[in-house]
Amino acid sequence: MVKVWYMDEDIVSDQRLEHHKSPPEYLSLEELFRKTGVEYYCLNIDTFETDGVLDKIKKERGYTYEDQITCSEKCLPNYAEKLKSFYTEHLHTDEEIRLVVEGSGYFDVRDSEDQWIRIAVFPGDLIIIPSGIYHRFTLDSNNYIRAKRFFIGEPVWLPYNRPADDMPCRKEYVEKMEKGFITVQ
Ligand SMILES: [Fe+2]
Repeated sequence: MVKVWYMDEDIVSDQRLEHHKSPPEYLSLEELFRKTGVEYYCLNIDTFETDGVLDKIKKERGYTYEDQITCSEKCLPNYAEKLKSFYTEHLHTDEEIRLVVEGSGYFDVRDSEDQWIRIAVFPGDLIIIPSGIYHRFTLDSNNYIRAKRFFIGEPVWLPYNRPADDMPCRKEYVEKMEKGFITVQ
């Protein structure tokens, strides 16, 4: 089950460690959404392929493309380099949607005060990172994650490294953040 916390300021030690503040400062999923617009769904990892929950999300949000990626020391040549490149702060012109099927990892997102929020994801966690938000990814110390990726239409995975403040998707995101994210339910 997902866990969310504010990260410490330590940029020296391994990015795959938890990087908690002292004492730890956790956030609820509601706080995460309110601060960043990141959305979360909890799926049953044993039944999600047939129970209809994922199908409903896909239909409602218009996800027409789907594939699966595995990240591990074995799967990725130049693992150390790849880890560093995932961890480069960037944004996308579209949502980044991931459903963890196996293993675990960390998605880090910036809040409005530019603080890093760490989202630890596990099997059954589906997260939606909005277009225009600065973020990064890293594996954790288990060094293994298998995740489904979704997309509306033809997938575009292109990252734009920070600074990308003049991009229309960034401006739209900042505007939304200033107005405040509102729960639709
Ligand atoms: Fe990304």
